[in-house]
Amino acid sequence: MRGLELVFFAILLVLATLQVAISHGEQPLSRIAVHNTRLRLSENADIRASPSILGLKGQNSEWVTLEYASPNPSNDDWIGVFSPADFSASTCNPDEGSKQSPPFLCTAPIKYQYANYSSPGYRKEGKGSLRLQLINQRSDFSFVLFSGGLANVVAVSNKVAFTNPNAPVYPRLAQGKMWNEMTVTWTSGYGINEAEPFVEWGRKDGDLMRSPAGTLTFNRNSMCGAPARTVGWRDPGFIHTSFLKELWPNSVYTYKLGHKLFNGTYVWSQVYQFRASPYPGQSSVQRVVIFGDMGKDEADGSNEYNNYQRGSLNTTKQLIEDLKNIDIVFHIGDICYANGYLSQWDQFTAQVEPIASTVPYMIASGNHERDWPGTGSFYGNSDSGGECGVLAETMFYVPAENRAKFWYSTDYGMFRFCIADTEHDWREGTEQYKFIEHCLASADRQKQPWLIFLAHRVLGYSSGTWYAEEGSFEEPMGRESLQKLWQKYKVDIAMYGHVHNYERTCPIYQNICTSKEKFYYKGTLNGTIHVVAGGGGASLADFTPINTTWSYFKDHDYGFVKLTAFDHSNLLFEYKKSRDGKVYDSFKISRDYRDILACTVDSCPSMTLAS
Ligand SMILES: *[C@@H]1O[C@H](CO)[C@@H](O)[C@H](O)[C@H]1NC(C)=O
Ligand SMILES: *[C@@H]1O[C@H](CO)[C@@H](O)[C@H](O)[C@H]1NC(C)=O
Ligand SMILES: *[C@@H]1O[C@H](CO)[C@@H](O)[C@H](O)[C@H]1NC(C)=O
Ligand SMILES: *[C@@H]1O[C@H](CO)[C@@H](O)[C@H](O)[C@H]1NC(C)=O
Ligand SMILES: *[C@@H]1O[C@H](CO)[C@@H](O)[C@H](O)[C@H]1NC(C)=O
Ligand SMILES: [Fe+2]
Repeated sequence: MRGLELVFFAILLVLATLQVAISHGEQPLSRIAVHNTRLRLSENADIRASPSILGLKGQNSEWVTLEYASPNPSNDDWIGVFSPADFSASTCNPDEGSKQSPPFLCTAPIKYQYANYSSPGYRKEGKGSLRLQLINQRSDFSFVLFSGGLANVVAVSNKVAFTNPNAPVYPRLAQGKMWNEMTVTWTSGYGINEAEPFVEWGRKDGDLMRSPAGTLTFNRNSMCGAPARTVGWRDPGFIHTSFLKELWPNSVYTYKLGHKLFNGTYVWSQVYQFRASPYPGQSSVQRVVIFGDMGKDEADGSNEYNNYQRGSLNTTKQLIEDLKNIDIVFHIGDICYANGYLSQWDQFTAQVEPIASTVPYMIASGNHERDWPGTGSFYGNSDSGGECGVLAETMFYVPAENRAKFWYSTDYGMFRFCIADTEHDWREGTEQYKFIEHCLASADRQKQPWLIFLAHRVLGYSSGTWYAEEGSFEEPMGRESLQKLWQKYKVDIAMYGHVHNYERTCPIYQNICTSKEKFYYKGTLNGTIHVVAGGGGASLADFTPINTTWSYFKDHDYGFVKLTAFDHSNLLFEYKKSRDGKVYDSFKISRDYRDILACTVDSCPSMTLAS
């Protein structure tokens, strides 16, 4: 017992150095990293979890019930979920250890909840119960009762595990580099020395084939700092990507994930299905959903000391309910706000699984994925919690030349999307600027009339408080060099996240509205409509009280944008609230090819030369 006590005489790593501004989302798990967590196992304290074996029917998400008792109950008692269950394993990273004295409690809990959450009588009776949802994430779990604040461990539960913790889980689709290629990325516990990963797929009612998958993983040393390198670190398992090629446009395919173990046994996922993307230029109804800053939340109410991403589950739910009417999704940065607590990426991929396994789930990089001092991010803040882009670049596939430089283009029927990476320099003369210009310039507007620019930070226009105070209503230097590209190449809509609300501008160029119309644009736009769709789920951001001429619609609520291209001449834009899925703002564009060709200010070479 003494040895055990010594190991448990544990100290949660101090995260005082982690400075994540409240406005950018403090990771709730950081609140419980405290000094001097002690094991005061009490004979009269107890915590039990049931069932102890999960996923008997192959499920990768299950509810467990906890029953617990403490001789000294208080409202400050809480329950932490640890995984691996043996959370005291003394494998702390030595190079982060100087500030603390050993031994450490080396892992942050995956999530936690107050002991009184569903047992209001807990404080008086000293007994409580709680239901928590667990997802399959490659390891077993244990539950720990902490007493009187964050310091004392009074009881540790039995272990709980899924029948196959290594199971292939949470597939996410993404457009490949070719229009007729779909990529499938998933997570498992099987490394390349244990099994061969592949996808078995085919057209509905057609023959099935198998496509091999590549496998990636990384270790603690790939993280740039704490908490990702310390208490937030958790083994990411293996991330596999398979490239399904030569798809028939709009055809429905089924697929399942497989691993062939070297002793001949196969391990399978459930069966999923998707519809292949349309041919570039193809005329068919095409529906695109775009939002930023969604984050994750827990259906069981746990993990929410500060309730930072409260809108997340509503947004997810609305998208799932409308999934039959959605063809592709863009989540433009600030993906899950793991901020260096790696377990949260599994939770996020589990949350969006119904969406991401069915339609391409395309992401952009935000500050919470990438920013870290001294690592080449355009901003030197600590918003990624030490992840410095590694998680986003590995967990999700994007058809970029180099996944660490998160800019790419993708075509979807009548749409061309150019996705920028605001965490790397975009100004004139940079590699990214060249990419943006190439992406915009190479669109064949007769075939792909709808040209959309996407980025995380607001490079265009926003009435968010901070941007207004800073004076130009944009990310500093945001549109300085890009606006001439948007104008020259006649970008229809530019959309951003980062500011957690919704806002739409007039068609605009150089701060001047190029049209007074608000709802129905006929003919040439003469400028670009800028939209902030950052209300995906993270805590809402305020608008400045200043009303500008260019701001046409503002909403301080959770929501997302849906674009519907009916054909080459008609586009419908809708903004829907996450709370009810109803449309609160919309406009239409109706125009023909000649309207795109029409020369406006700074948009034709001849006019530019003449002036
Ligand atoms: C449960 O504990 C929390 C945190 O200490 C406290 O805010 C809340 O009022 C308590 N609830 C009940 C029903 O006692
Ligand atoms: C192959 O290995 C797996 C995992 O170790 C095991 O569950 C399975 O029973 C083995 N199959 C055979 C045929 O040995
Ligand atoms: C664009 O400019 C042209 C010429 O100035 C004008 O006729 C047209 O109405 C404008 N388009 C819109 C949508 O305002
Ligand atoms: C800005 O417009 C809103 C909505 O029309 C209005 O409620 C508000 O009073 C206006 N603010 C100022 C400073 O004029
Ligand atoms: C989520 O939607 C429900 C209604 O469906 C609403 O009552 C609730 O306030 C919403 N949550 C947030 C955080 O907006
Ligand atoms: Fe952001």
